[in-house]
Amino acid sequence: MIILITGVSSGFGRATAQKLAAEGHTVYGTCRRNVEPLPGVKYIKAEVTSEEDCRAAVQTVLDEQGRIDVFINNAGMGIGGPLEFSTIEQARRQMDVNWLGMVQFLHYVLPAMRAQKSGKIICISSIGGLMGLPFQGLYSASKFAIEGYCEALRLEVKQHGIKVVVVEPGDFATSFTASRDSVSDAAAYEAYPAYERSLKSIEHDETTGLKPDVLAARISKIVRCRNPRQSYIVSTLEQRLSVFLKAILPGRWFSAILASYYKL
Ligand SMILES: NC(=O)c1ccc[n+]([C@@H]2O[C@H](COP(=O)([O-])OP(=O)(O)OC[C@H]3O[C@@H](n4cnc5c(N)ncnc54)[C@H](OP(=O)(O)O)[C@@H]3O)[C@@H](O)[C@H]2O)c1
Repeated sequence: MIILITGVSSGFGRATAQKLAAEGHTVYGTCRRNVEPLPGVKYIKAEVTSEEDCRAAVQTVLDEQGRIDVFINNAGMGIGGPLEFSTIEQARRQMDVNWLGMVQFLHYVLPAMRAQKSGKIICISSIGGLMGLPFQGLYSASKFAIEGYCEALRLEVKQHGIKVVVVEPGDFATSFTASRDSVSDAAAYEAYPAYERSLKSIEHDETTGLKPDVLAARISKIVRCRNPRQSYIVSTLEQRLSVFLKAILPGRWFSAILASYYKL
């Protein structure tokens, strides 16, 4: 299959590109910096906030292969901190990278898939896209945006043979933690004393989290599956349980559980 995946310089993107290429697929991966190349992966330079880069990346695959069977929207980053102290520029950047980047790619991928009358779109959301996480509010908002967009898109494109799958990972050990842009204002720590201990606990959960190969294996299964589910949570049992609890508990009870977990 002809596969285009964004953000293959590290973490999920790198592990997934490696696995899919090893399985014999033709894999194109976008990245914005030079990385040690993976065998079988064709690299395309793209900054996902640049519409021109997104257009050109899609066009490169179409020019060389004439089709895109699977598009995996993976590139993303996190901005942490109390929402009151997060800047408007940070809010804009969080949405630009995590949500608008995906929208820009899909704007150019969708016409090709519609013409083919087939295609699979796999978007990496997060458990943070299913519940608003304290001190990760901008990040959660960007992943909720992915969830809402994909829910609508799935209904629109089904008639054209295009499937839309959302993957919600829990905590994984990748470069995501080190790349997080966190509010570091002393005033933010003073006004929200829980911020520091929450951030430490978030970082601990991530750095001791699952390995990206686990997610890559799941994505490989989704790529092969003729009739994939609409969404897949890939996480520890505890994190899957939290999604279940949110669905069944009164909002106030679930908020109390989250507040206790994040040491608020
Ligand atoms: N790790 C977790 O616990 C976790 C949990 C749930 C969801 N996720 C999601 O999984 C996805 C992959 O993250 P990861 O954990 O694998 O983190 P990662 O190792 O930091 O990988 C992120 C990838 O996205 C790329 N990227 C970031 N900003 C970009 C931009 N403006 N333009 C182009 N590429 C950009 C990075 O490129 P550079 O190397 O150039 O920065 C890198 O290739 C993200 O969408 C993230 O939100 C991660």
